[in-house]
Amino acid sequence: MTSLPQISNSPSHWYRNLGREFSRAMVNNSELGSYIEPLVQHFKPYWSTNGHRAQVIELLDESPEVFSIILKPSPGWPGFHAGQFVEISVNQNGRRLSRCFSISSSPSTYEREGTIRLTVRIQEQGRVTPRLRQTLQAGDFIGLSMAKGEFILAAEPRPRLLIAGGSGITPFRSMLGQISQSAESHNTTLMYYSGQEGSHLFEQELKALSRANPHINVQLIATQEHGRFNAEHLADYCPGFASSDIYICGPTGMIQSAKRVCVESGASAEQIHFEYFGAAPIEHTAIEAAGFVAFNKSGQSVSSEGDQPKSILSLAEQSGLNPQSGCKMGLCGQCQCTKTSGVVYNTKTGLHSDTGRESIKLCISVPVGDVAVDL
Ligand code: FES
Repeated sequence: MTSLPQISNSPSHWYRNLGREFSRAMVNNSELGSYIEPLVQHFKPYWSTNGHRAQVIELLDESPEVFSIILKPSPGWPGFHAGQFVEISVNQNGRRLSRCFSISSSPSTYEREGTIRLTVRIQEQGRVTPRLRQTLQAGDFIGLSMAKGEFILAAEPRPRLLIAGGSGITPFRSMLGQISQSAESHNTTLMYYSGQEGSHLFEQELKALSRANPHINVQLIATQEHGRFNAEHLADYCPGFASSDIYICGPTGMIQSAKRVCVESGASAEQIHFEYFGAAPIEHTAIEAAGFVAFNKSGQSVSSEGDQPKSILSLAEQSGLNPQSGCKMGLCGQCQCTKTSGVVYNTKTGLHSDTGRESIKLCISVPVGDVAVDL
């Protein structure tokens, strides 16, 4: 696996860090940067007090509901591992909206061309994704975080089984690109589930990749015709799964089911890596819906009662956790945290979130059904 280059100590980074520290000293976060950023960015569009930026190079429609954004990150952006995601931020009516997306292109493409690709499914009820497709244009600059996430290929190459559901193909497109351009030749099997024939993203590209690389076996499976992932599929398409690293990415229910099938078929839990993906449809539309809040880092979970909705901050404190917080009014941003899956209701805006990863303020976010946060 390629090592990530270090951020340089160039003057621009020194000034950026100075601005960030000044902002933090004033308000305990870097929001003050938003006041001076537009002025400076007029002359230096990649400059930011709040992380890196990227220029939109191109927008590509992958299907009626899915599009890709080709981005050129600012000089000094430290690169990524295949399978990681980034958080992008855009200004909407004076407010900064952020959203996380897996990088669907490979690190070797970034090294060669200096660009990354994000592939986005438009969530009709979401605030961010429809807006991105409607308003982003080539030439625009947007905020870009460093790459994050532990859903990456093991450092020691071994045979692999990749199980994708729907838009969960995007980190695997990055991984397959990287595998195909490396010298290693371990068998890699992709089992990619989508509703019907012809609805698989990147279908022609994946078939061509498989034809050009005999050690990459691509199986595009239509669930309407062949059913969902099951033990028979596992035995038919990847008989060597017991000695493979298994990676799963897709909607929550698909991941839970695939994990269970793999373990019941003889795989060990240590072999299985998974990443929940924000492509599941929104099933709950009212804050009265009850569910579970899972706190990923602490391993705690708590049930949220439908008739007595509480903020995720309150539920965390009720569970004995002590997350950072301040105003508890959605103003200071100290309780900002990453939601990894599920829908939350914002008590300040009266809006529901998208289903996937995004930054939320715990104190004004009420869970709608099952939610997982990095806490
Ligand atoms: S505690 Fe201040 S925004 Fe949540």
